[in-house]
Amino acid sequence: MTPKQISIQTTLSQQFCNVRQQSLELCAPLTAEDMMVQSCPEASPAKWHLAHTTWFFETFILREFLPGYQEYHPDFLWLLNSYYNSISDHPEKKLRASFSRPGLEAILDYRRHVEASMERLFESGMPAEAQERLVLGLHHEQQHAELLATDIKHAFWTNPLHPAYLDSRLPASGPAAAMQWVEYPGGVHEIGHTGDGFAFDNESPRHKQYFEPFQLASRPVTCAEFLDFMNCGGYERPELWLSEGWDTIQAQNWRAPLYWHRDQSGEWSVFTLHGEMPLSDLAGTPVCHVSYFEADAFANWAGKRLPTEGEWEIAASRLQVEGNLLESGRLHPSACEISSTIASGGKPNAATMNQMFGDVWEWTRSPYVGYPGYRPLSGALGEYNGKFMSNQMVLRGGSIVTPASHIRASYRNFFPASTRWQFSGFRLANR
Ligand code: AVJ
Ligand code: FE
Repeated sequence: MTPKQISIQTTLSQQFCNVRQQSLELCAPLTAEDMMVQSCPEASPAKWHLAHTTWFFETFILREFLPGYQEYHPDFLWLLNSYYNSISDHPEKKLRASFSRPGLEAILDYRRHVEASMERLFESGMPAEAQERLVLGLHHEQQHAELLATDIKHAFWTNPLHPAYLDSRLPASGPAAAMQWVEYPGGVHEIGHTGDGFAFDNESPRHKQYFEPFQLASRPVTCAEFLDFMNCGGYERPELWLSEGWDTIQAQNWRAPLYWHRDQSGEWSVFTLHGEMPLSDLAGTPVCHVSYFEADAFANWAGKRLPTEGEWEIAASRLQVEGNLLESGRLHPSACEISSTIASGGKPNAATMNQMFGDVWEWTRSPYVGYPGYRPLSGALGEYNGKFMSNQMVLRGGSIVTPASHIRASYRNFFPASTRWQFSGFRLANR
């Protein structure tokens, strides 16, 4: 290896250690029993996340690129496969809580086995293709770190004791800064991944789109604003709702965001990873754990709309990637306390948009489909993103449980419109 190749591999092996460590640290407050809970079919047990992320490195890197690699267990190839049909049959997702064997110790041992084998590959030098897959594997494990935190929150909420993941109290937040409209010119803009950093296949190709002039809100919609919508009968007014949304809120009996609870005296509280909190202490924080349907109904009620993903990206691509993300340790969205007018010394402008990255994923009105000219990766990894391009909506910007080095302006997250267990909120658009 040349000195340059050696230094690239050192950085990669360092990143590998960091990402693996972050997954384990998220499990530090958990017992082995906590790590087995699957409280809804979309979620997975923490133990499964630890195992499946390890499987990814074993399957796509070690089996293919480490000569003489000894697999940890022959059944793990299909047992820990999430959805790659071209690799093997795999267990049904909703039955992941039945996976009490192999036990936690075996899974931790599997992690060490794969890490030691990866170490050998780092030392012997990695072909370029293995390096690309490693970077994909790191981003994959970061996606699962976020899912792990999200799923544990749901597991603890489902537990009748509503345990707190962290004992520390969340400070009560102040009121949010006034929402302002930031103007963006219309015309032809480019969206999609650019530059030489990592991006998933679904962020390419970069391409041109025509936009009418538009305005975006300087911050996401807050809990206090969402409570206004509820108090104005938002959930009882069919004219505000998409047909499928209306049917969903009737069938599920939704009358508030997920994790909101009203006690006998009529006071609202909100379950967080720090335990239950009065809604009044979170009034200025972005509303979180709403479905696309609720975001859309709110926008209709307010006489506004949700942004398209392209509009969101135009605004975000002018900003630094910074915000309240997983490493902040807050584990709950924070109130926006900076007025964009004050920050920009006058008229709101594009540089002073708040909370575009972190805090809450923002629902957009864009369906998740391939960009013009989109090609999935070749082989089994082509199943990573492309095959989910039907009946899902795009979310942008990352949340308070997204690792900081995982998010960027072109990043496209996607979930079905009725999804609420993610840290999902929204910001309004106008015109
Ligand atoms: C992009 C969050 C929808 O949850 O299936 C994990 C992330 N992809 N393993 C998902 C993912 C492969 C994906 N989402
Ligand atoms: Fe996965």
